[in-house]
Amino acid sequence: MQDRPQHLTLRRPDDWHLHLRYGPMLGAVLGWSARTFGRAIIMPNLTPPVTDSAAATAYKSRIMAAMPEGSRFQPLMTCYLTDRTDPDDLEAGFRNGTFVAAKLYPAGATTNSSHGVSRIEAIDAPLHRMQAIGMPLLIHGEVVDPAIDIFDRERAFIDRELIPLRRRFPDLKVVMEHITTEDAADYLWADTTGRLAATITPQHLLINRNHILVGGIRPHMYCLPVAKRERHRRALCRAATSGDARFFLGTDSAPHALHTKENACGCAGIFNAPSAMAAYATAFDEAGALDRLEAFASLNGPAFYGFSPNEDTIELERGAPELPDTVAVGDGAEAVVVFKGPGSLTWREVGSAAC
Ligand code: DOR
Ligand code: ZN
Repeated sequence: MQDRPQHLTLRRPDDWHLHLRYGPMLGAVLGWSARTFGRAIIMPNLTPPVTDSAAATAYKSRIMAAMPEGSRFQPLMTCYLTDRTDPDDLEAGFRNGTFVAAKLYPAGATTNSSHGVSRIEAIDAPLHRMQAIGMPLLIHGEVVDPAIDIFDRERAFIDRELIPLRRRFPDLKVVMEHITTEDAADYLWADTTGRLAATITPQHLLINRNHILVGGIRPHMYCLPVAKRERHRRALCRAATSGDARFFLGTDSAPHALHTKENACGCAGIFNAPSAMAAYATAFDEAGALDRLEAFASLNGPAFYGFSPNEDTIELERGAPELPDTVAVGDGAEAVVVFKGPGSLTWREVGSAAC
């Protein structure tokens, strides 16, 4: 096939959902995001979580101190909503640029979410304020009801929590983070408000639940929300590759030390920062939609958040990426495993030497 593109130039992408952690892990992973992405929405689920503007300012300083020399990567900070969030602090933080958005984790839904929101009614005051000032609400959309099967938790969240919430706050800007189901994609397709968007991770475009469970349990394919059946992966691919402005890139790169994943009770999270653009390009290529990758990766996100796209560009080329199996953490006693997809990745970033 002569006319298959071999090379792509894209406006520099942004990552609208990223976990950087702190300490040695931050030092190990930050450079991988900073070499590729212009900006990233930084998740606040540290221990303790980033629940006010003072904590966000302090965390941002730690990120800036760990930044590779000469990098222009911009961390965009978020506030972790709790039953005690102060709407005045939230508004002040949004107005002065400390916060770009706030994150709703249902209590107990995922890693470090024990401080999360017990009942959505408990954050009515912050949500009223966010709606009034145009501050986006980023949602981890899974119910925590033990009676609900883990593969149904996203769909149940939409029915039980998201639809009532959006009825009560119709002007609130909402991002459904890391969607994993056809149900979520359909809910977005049906929306006509222009105030609803979704991020999609590289792993949810490439893997289904068989990749986690068939032939042995693969902890490095495990994240939350967990990958679903193939029908859902296909629906996510259709959404991401559609070019529709409601869908944009959010890697959910979430590093955990190797031994905490290869464990009797392994942590949820996939570290994909080194491979993210290779993985997205592979998925878009498989869908015959490379011409829509730039909208998904570099244009739709800034448009939703009200930013300009990045001015500079990155280059991708057809070919297997050279990726390390693991990245060392701190003095090397710990490592984090790099996501490389379930098969071969067929695109690579040009000039992105390992860091
Ligand atoms: O797999 C996940 N890992 N999902 C999340 O929502 C949190 C993340 C983490 O922080 O490790
Ligand atoms: Zn996340």
